[in-house]
Amino acid sequence: MAVFVTGGAGFIGSQFIRDWVARYPEQTLINFDKLTYAGNPDNLIEVADHPSYSFIQGDICDADSLRAAIPEQCDAIVHFAAESHVDRSIHSASEFVRTNVLGTQVLLDVARERKTRRFLHISTDEVGGSMADDEYYREDSPYAPSSPYAASKAAAEHLARAAHHTFGFDVVLTRTSNNYGPFQFPEKLLPLAISNALEDRPIPVYGDGLQVRDWVHVADNCKALALVLEGGNSGETYHIGGRLPLPNRDVLRLLLSVLGKPETLLTQVTDRLGHDRRYAVDCTKIERELGWTPEIAFEDGLKRTIQWYQDNSAWVNRAKSGEYRNYYQHQYGGDIHEPVP
Ligand code: NAD
Ligand code: TYD
Repeated sequence: MAVFVTGGAGFIGSQFIRDWVARYPEQTLINFDKLTYAGNPDNLIEVADHPSYSFIQGDICDADSLRAAIPEQCDAIVHFAAESHVDRSIHSASEFVRTNVLGTQVLLDVARERKTRRFLHISTDEVGGSMADDEYYREDSPYAPSSPYAASKAAAEHLARAAHHTFGFDVVLTRTSNNYGPFQFPEKLLPLAISNALEDRPIPVYGDGLQVRDWVHVADNCKALALVLEGGNSGETYHIGGRLPLPNRDVLRLLLSVLGKPETLLTQVTDRLGHDRRYAVDCTKIERELGWTPEIAFEDGLKRTIQWYQDNSAWVNRAKSGEYRNYYQHQYGGDIHEPVP
């Protein structure tokens, strides 16, 4: 069996790879990643020397690189590669359209050309837009993306679904809520808040901080992804979430109390433009059809995540300083994105 992963040097993709290689050490796993600012080889040290694992630096928009990298009759492609941060998409959306939309189409084309057996497309609950109070996003709810990031992910979903509908290509899709856990780049809320709190620096709270997000531990998410890859019905979409939508302020207060830090670190800043108020996913379908349920309770998962960031200050410092990017450039001659100031 050969599995081809895109974007496996990022937060979720690297967790998927570490788990998959541990579970199926005899299978071939190829990680194809452009190594943007968000791709970090430190995330894969655990598997880097494993005989079944290999890494190829490449861009999913480049069909020739994909042709050279995807094995003929590849058993599965798991497509994580994306620009993933909403704030960056507000600052500049072009790279989001390029990678998330064009890149997905190029990958779908080459995947079919190589007679890939199954394509798992990783998407987000953000394609449904903001939910009203007490409303839960279902697989058959309408698309209503609001940010440039979400719009590019919705477009990518349409292309993946079109490949299934038009060509009978075996595509399965997942939409996950906000993931948290180790190895998350400290631009997203939780790793940013943890690392700032550990240094007694202010934690930026966008607007009133009452925006609601549903948190799922990245390890639980990756178990769900493996279940969908192995048992999901072709052409179907599955929602994955923690079943616990929480206001940002409550999450941050809990985080500060675990760390024994004062709430005065919470610092209101101007709100994100077009900020979606509430995300909440309904995961009944994956629970009923594939028997998945999140195993890591949020408070426990948050404590473990905080502990990981405390124990791995070297990883955090390298990620924040961009030092790992020099390593990439040195090792692979990659073209590197600068973080948005
Ligand atoms: P991430 O930003 O941590 O990692 C993205 C990875 O993709 C990086 O390794 C990057 O180098 C790679 N990449 C970017 N552009 C590429 C290109 N053109 N070609 C090849 N590789 C490229 O993202 P993440 O948080 O791990 O998210 C992974 C996937 O899950 C994304 O598709 C994202 O939209 C989706 N998702 C994420 C979350 C979340 O909470 N993080 C929630 C729902 C869905
Ligand atoms: P984020 O981690 O960027 O994920 P997403 O926007 O995809 O949900 O943000 C999570 C929530 O936290 C979102 O409501 C925006 C808010 N937020 C802050 O209040 N302060 C911050 O510094 C960041 C990065 C996010």
